[in-house]
Amino acid sequence: MCGIIGIVGQGDVALRLLDGLARLEYRGYDSAGIATLVNGRIERRRAEGKLTNLARVLSAEPLAGRIGIGHTRWATHGAPSETNAHPHASARVALVHNGIIENFRELRAELEAQGHRFASETDSEAVVHLVTQYLAEGLAPRAATARALKRLEGAFALGLIFAGEHDLLIAARRGSPLAIGFGAGEMFIASDAMALAPFTNRVLYLCEGDWAEVTSAGALVFDAEDRPVNREVKETALTGAVIGKGNYRHFMLKEIYEQPAVIGDTLHAHLNPATQTIALPELPFDLARIPKVTLVACGTSYYAALVARYWIEGLARIPVEVDLASEFRYRNAVLPEGGVALFVSQSGETADTLAALRSARAGGQRVLSLVNVEESTMARESDAVLRTLAGPEIGVASTKAFTTQLTVLACFAVALARARGAIAHAREAELSVALAEVPARAAEALTHDKALRRLAGKVALARDVLYLGRGTSYPIALEGALKLKEISYIHAEGYAAGEMKHGPIALIDDGVPVIVIAPGDALFDKTASNIEEVAARGGRVIVFSDAAGLAALGGAAKTAIELPAVDPFVAPILYAIPVQLLAYHAAVIKGTDVDRPRNLAKSVTVE
Ligand code: G6P
Repeated sequence: MCGIIGIVGQGDVALRLLDGLARLEYRGYDSAGIATLVNGRIERRRAEGKLTNLARVLSAEPLAGRIGIGHTRWATHGAPSETNAHPHASARVALVHNGIIENFRELRAELEAQGHRFASETDSEAVVHLVTQYLAEGLAPRAATARALKRLEGAFALGLIFAGEHDLLIAARRGSPLAIGFGAGEMFIASDAMALAPFTNRVLYLCEGDWAEVTSAGALVFDAEDRPVNREVKETALTGAVIGKGNYRHFMLKEIYEQPAVIGDTLHAHLNPATQTIALPELPFDLARIPKVTLVACGTSYYAALVARYWIEGLARIPVEVDLASEFRYRNAVLPEGGVALFVSQSGETADTLAALRSARAGGQRVLSLVNVEESTMARESDAVLRTLAGPEIGVASTKAFTTQLTVLACFAVALARARGAIAHAREAELSVALAEVPARAAEALTHDKALRRLAGKVALARDVLYLGRGTSYPIALEGALKLKEISYIHAEGYAAGEMKHGPIALIDDGVPVIVIAPGDALFDKTASNIEEVAARGGRVIVFSDAAGLAALGGAAKTAIELPAVDPFVAPILYAIPVQLLAYHAAVIKGTDVDRPRNLAKSVTVE
């Protein structure tokens, strides 16, 4: 995935490139680097690891130059090392790349046979040598790049600068997002408009296959056939303000604590408390006539989609299919005419989800997306957009985006049910009230922070942890396991509680904590039986339930967190919170980098 930025500026650009990269670090932090032109020559500074390492290198060896490109990397081809860090360069061209060049082996063999010497193991370096080769054959930078682009297979956003060309930056986009920013006498490129927010709010998004010649005076955009095209310049509402951690130790903790407020904001946009009805934004299709809903997402967003299946099928009685984007896009799924495909994504940029969106559109589906980033590619490519109002989520492990996704999906399910006449007004009113109470109940759930920290002390000692749940609590168990493993590096698995007897029960001994998500819903008694089965085998059960549930469990729930009693419909939103806090504290105890766990990135823009 990676984040890229470029500036054709007035003054020295190195520190501004660094500032922009800080806003792109959510896209990867295996290494970072910048390249500028100093007296017409390409100069680079690169460092393995997080951006702070590059900042140190730059303060020891500052870099001048009015034009430059920068990169923060999530490694795909080649280990995270300084040698593999971008920008990659020859004496004539320097390049930053987000994406994967799929035919790099073949290009590399061809270029090595022509005498090019590769310094890194990356796929990206092939593009540097390809452009260099065309420059050596006498083509000007623009023509050399245009020719090289035609040889590339895969996905990319590219930024290139050229030795001796102080006023030329070339940008290209295929598969990975790229924005061009318009300043006063200077121009910018970046993977997203947020990176450009401190510099300009006038932004043009390159369309698929576009490339552009960017100079300090403006940008000329060409389509994939090299025909000049006009793309709209938009004013973004993004602010350049640095998002801080406030008094919190980590962004993740801050974001967990923001949940009562952002769930409230999200509800405010989707629920009318006066009429006790759900009010979705206007949609360009009739909800009453949808034959099937296909939900597609990755990671935590996928688990939100899994919860939505129970809600939509249960309330609206419409068939729902849920799939991982990376599977869906290659599966040749059977999609009914007039079906709705709903893509759930915090970033709106996840490569697999975006590709799945395009394949669903090609398959004749009405495309709906649920995103947190309003100006994202998915939002722009959808027939209609639903929004989570979670605000910027910085911690790599998703928290408030997840609970706000659940909030909107719950509203969507109710709206579908109403449109199909499958729900009585009284029940809609009940659910609206239950939803409206979630912010207050979420605030109550946060009061268990200390108890969860104590519990985390035990969980942090475990090698393996099991999470169990039934119905809508099953995806919460999956999410709990994902949260724990991604930030604390403890192996964890989420299982449907009823499925435990088909395998995971073999793992149970007194060293494996078993965390059971057991709200007082229709399946509570079934889950209670599974708790007994674990306890009978000496397992260490930790139960999340309400007062009535815990009373019913008696001695089987020695270790428990008591959550407020709520309508079971909204329980998954509420029960996500202790699951997040437990993982957070376990990670802090283990001393990991909670906000930027190893090998992960917030926005995954490669397949
Ligand atoms: C990455 C992030 C996760 C996120 C997933 C899907 O793996 O680390 O937190 O859930 O991508 O991202 P999206 O932006 O599409 O929701």
